[in-house]
Amino acid sequence: MNLTTIILAAGKGTRMRSQLPKVLHSISHKSLLRHVHDLSAGLENNVIHIVIGHGAEQVKKTLADSMVNWIEQTQQLGTGHAVQQVSGQIDDNSMVLILYSDVPLLKLKTLQTLLSKANEKTLALLTLNLANPTGYGRIVRDGCSGKVLRIVEEKDATEIEKKIVEGNTGILAVQGNALKKWLSQLDNNNAQGEYYLTDIIALAVADGFEIATTSPQTEDEVLGVNDKLQLAHLERVYQLQQAQNLMKQGVTLRDPNRFDLRGLLEVGEDVEIDVNVIFEGENRLGNNVKIGANCSIKNATIGDNVIILENCVIENAVVGVNSRIGPFARLRPETVLASETHIGNFVEIKKSVIGQGSKVNHLSYIGDSLVGKKVNIGAGTITCNYDGVNKFQTIIEDGAFIGSDTQLVAPVTVGKNATIGAGSTITKDTPDNQLTLSRGKQISVPNWQRPVKKEKL
Ligand code: UD1
Ligand code: CA
Repeated sequence: MNLTTIILAAGKGTRMRSQLPKVLHSISHKSLLRHVHDLSAGLENNVIHIVIGHGAEQVKKTLADSMVNWIEQTQQLGTGHAVQQVSGQIDDNSMVLILYSDVPLLKLKTLQTLLSKANEKTLALLTLNLANPTGYGRIVRDGCSGKVLRIVEEKDATEIEKKIVEGNTGILAVQGNALKKWLSQLDNNNAQGEYYLTDIIALAVADGFEIATTSPQTEDEVLGVNDKLQLAHLERVYQLQQAQNLMKQGVTLRDPNRFDLRGLLEVGEDVEIDVNVIFEGENRLGNNVKIGANCSIKNATIGDNVIILENCVIENAVVGVNSRIGPFARLRPETVLASETHIGNFVEIKKSVIGQGSKVNHLSYIGDSLVGKKVNIGAGTITCNYDGVNKFQTIIEDGAFIGSDTQLVAPVTVGKNATIGAGSTITKDTPDNQLTLSRGKQISVPNWQRPVKKEKL
């Protein structure tokens, strides 16, 4: 059957206290709207309409890559009014699904169950029993048959109706032609002076429709975001779900409550991740990878048996098998480390290839460089790759040994198996197999005396 999804996203979200439209706030670096959009995109034969109002232009831009039909609701006169804006574009024979852009954690399975209950004579409604139903519309059922009769909004409810614990999530599925008919019958004679979508339930019952209800598996699925507290709560819920998925795939997480994945993570076997590690973008970890506490890893591919010690920052980098990184190392974009490399503390590598078995263990900056195999770069080595205007390359060939505190002024090449004496400033290419050093010879001055303090006059 053809499906029409309508996502309501026109509200301002005053309680977010933000310039950003509510639906553009994010969970796991993905906007609330995109969460809901991606969920509905998972349903087949689906045409997606998004009703926007506040910050319409800004909202549209964020989903420019998607096939959606944007509909503007210039004045927010209620959920019924919002759906009315789409009415002209609803195919009579399609099944219509109503979703909310500020309810981001709904599961596809829940929607599929809901849709399986809806047909030409049945409206399907997602409801749930709540410990605290305050703020929700309440589901009014017939005392004898238990059939749903109508929904009453909190602000219109009598004291007795307020005691009903079955709340309306707002999510429903109904046949297009019937919905269009009822939408045209809505009025705003209620406590809020709004056109309530929820009023279609009583109209459906009057037309002899069955109201089928189903519930989500957890309450978190249907929680909405209205303020930063709820946003933070759903962020943690979402992160914990991702952490649990990874643990099911065999990953050892030292504390699933202190783990953040803002994107995708592919993992091999026997991966161990210590606390407070943040992954962003698309990351791939091989088998037996160990990651220490407090690392931030973005768009990285990490080979088998790699050990990343605490406090490393890695971005757009490839780390070859059996390598060891950190603690306190920074791999910047376009870094490619071959297998068995060691990158130690306070080392920054940018746009460089480091060959197999090479070591940069302490306090170095390697940028725009090609480093061969089995190279040893001593503590405090700096590639001077920038003259203030242009960047230049440093090439260090296989087997070279760079003494500590060396500056390699690019463009420059250090030859195969060359040795550079500590403390050198290398401005010219150095030959293979030779010792090159550029510092002055060490001298000692006999009879030299330290200055003494002058007596005040
Ligand atoms: C709505 C339901 C209520 C349900 C609750 C669940 C109605 C009348 N009430 O109430 O039964 O328990 O959701 O959270 O439907 N929106 C628009 N345009 C509008 C009005 C709203 O796009 O003119 C969007 C909002 O941006 C929001 C959603 O619809 O995403 C819900 O609107 P809101 O005003 O928050 O409805 P509730 O009062 O919470
Ligand atoms: Ca709401």
